[in-house]
Amino acid sequence: MSFSADWLALREPVDHRSIAADVRDRAVAALAGRESVEIVDLGCGSGSNLRALADHIAAPVQRWTLVDWDEALLAHARARLAAWGERARDEGDALVIHRGARRIEVRVLQADLARHVEHALERPADLVTAAAFFDLVSEDWMGGFCAALAARRAPLYTTLTYNGHERWSPPHAADGDMLAAFHAHQHSDKGFGPAAGPLAAAALERALRAVGYGVASAASPWSMDASDRVLMSELARGAASAVRETGRVPGAAIDDWLDARLAASACEIGHEDIFAAPA
Ligand SMILES: C[S@@+](CC[C@H](N)C(=O)[O-])C[C@H]1O[C@@H](n2cnc3c(N)ncnc32)[C@H](O)[C@@H]1O
Repeated sequence: MSFSADWLALREPVDHRSIAADVRDRAVAALAGRESVEIVDLGCGSGSNLRALADHIAAPVQRWTLVDWDEALLAHARARLAAWGERARDEGDALVIHRGARRIEVRVLQADLARHVEHALERPADLVTAAAFFDLVSEDWMGGFCAALAARRAPLYTTLTYNGHERWSPPHAADGDMLAAFHAHQHSDKGFGPAAGPLAAAALERALRAVGYGVASAASPWSMDASDRVLMSELARGAASAVRETGRVPGAAIDDWLDARLAASACEIGHEDIFAAPA
């Protein structure tokens, strides 16, 4: 499944303001007192997760490995991060960014995480992280991933895993049918086996507990109003086209729902953030 840089840029400000601060603080606390930290970001897209987290980490040196299978997004991530730094220098295998007193070394790794997650975890990591990624994977894949994580005793911090809750305002008669059909579509295989979709956050917590990790989680919903009209409209169009593919809702009902949603005044989309570490 591919994601456009434009879509990731559109959601980034809403993602960042939605992140659960208390869960993030636990991840940051796990890295406290170190001179340098190694972080692996799975399914990094254009680097949003690094931009959300790096300024909260006290270590003066951060070494990030950004993993994705999409070469274009990895190139885009490097370009965006170079612009985000106060100074940036290309040192061949690493992009070195300076922000305040922090030196952030960024390496990119192109890998298909469905098949080569061990490769992505080869480098010792003080923290493995991912944003908006785990709803794409299957529960089976989560089990294997958590076993690999536990073998390294690496903590995990994930943000913005979709949890299936949605509330649009004003309500529409087709909301229930549309959401049920959208969820059915969310379970389609994105390369990792049947995707956990709306069940991902709960499934990930279970898989982490099964390998002996302590888990802290909190809701991180997107709360949007008319000032987020562009993102709300894109979400509505995306949901309508996914539902159309399922054939579960009559076309006329989808059209009517979409018309109403393009004029919606507010919308909340549920997500969950998780920090987990060996108990
Ligand atoms: C919803 S995007 C999230 C991107 C980024 N973490 C963010 O928060 O903006 C999911 C990301 O997972 C990546 N992805 C999907 N399947 C993958 C796979 N099999 N191997 C590696 N990356 C994958 C996509 O290319 C995309 O960048």
